[in-house]
Amino acid sequence: MIDERLKSIAEMVDRQGTLLDVGTDHGYLPVYLVKSGKIKAAIASDVSRGSLAKAAQEVAKQKLESSIETRLGSGLEVIGENDKIDTIVIAGMGGILISELIDKRLDYIRKNSIDLIVQPVQSPESVRRYFHENGFEITAEKLAKADGRIYHIIKAKAGSRGSEQAAYVRDDIVFELGELIMSDAGSESKALLRELIGYKLKEQHKIKEKLEITESGNIGERYKEVLRKIESLDEVLRKLD
Ligand SMILES: C[S@@+](CC[C@H](N)C(=O)[O-])C[C@H]1O[C@@H](n2cnc3c(N)ncnc32)[C@H](O)[C@@H]1O
Repeated sequence: MIDERLKSIAEMVDRQGTLLDVGTDHGYLPVYLVKSGKIKAAIASDVSRGSLAKAAQEVAKQKLESSIETRLGSGLEVIGENDKIDTIVIAGMGGILISELIDKRLDYIRKNSIDLIVQPVQSPESVRRYFHENGFEITAEKLAKADGRIYHIIKAKAGSRGSEQAAYVRDDIVFELGELIMSDAGSESKALLRELIGYKLKEQHKIKEKLEITESGNIGERYKEVLRKIESLDEVLRKLD
C-alpha cells in the first residue's frame, strides 16, 4: 500500500498539524500519516471524481472520516485561510504542473509559511528552478526507488526573497540532481545517485550518437550542450568516489 516513495515523502512531514495532499488518488499518504500519528488531520484532494471516490473509500475503510476530509478540485484551489494547513504535498505529477499549481497560490503559501513537499515524476529540474527563482529554500531532498524507478522528493519553504532577487544562476546539473542530494554522504543515497547518473549518461550518449549520425559530425549547439552535460555528469560521478 505505502511504498518506499510514499514512505520517504511521509518521513519529511514534521509539522504535526493539518496537511493537504493534492492529487491524493487512493488517499494512502494522508491515511498513513494520520494513522501513524504524524499529523492531526488532512484534506485529501483530487481533480478527478474517480480518484476522490477511491480516497473517500479508503478513508471510510480506515474509519478516519473525522480527521481526513476529501475535496474535489484542482491544485490548491480547494483550500482557504480557515483550513490552517501547515504542509502541502504534491506527488506523482509532472514538475511543470507542480510549479504551476504552486504559483497559483504563491501568496497563500508565503503568508502561511507552508512547508511544501513535492515529488515530480518528470522534470524535477523545473521545480527546483521554480523554487530558486521564487525565493524558496530547499530544506530537504532525497531520492527514493520504487517499481524500478528513481524519484526525487523535495521539501521547500518560502523565504522572504522575491523572484527579482534570485541571487545567482544555478548550474543546470544542480537543478537536475539537487544540491542536497549531491552533498548527502550516506551510502544508500550515493548508490541511488550513481544509478540515476548512470541512466542520465546512457540517455545523453544515445542523443550524442544520434546527432553524430544525423548531423554527420557537424558540431551544432545541441551537440555541444550534450557534451557539456556528459562532462558535468561525469564530474559529479567522480566526486562521489
Ligand atoms: C499518479 S497519481 C499520484 C497519486 C498520489 N499523489 C501518489 O503520489 O501516489 C496523480 C493524481 O493527481 C491527480 N491530479 C492531476 N492533476 C491534478 C490537479 N491539477 N489538481 C489535483 N489533482 C490532480 C490525478 O487525478 C491523480 O489522481
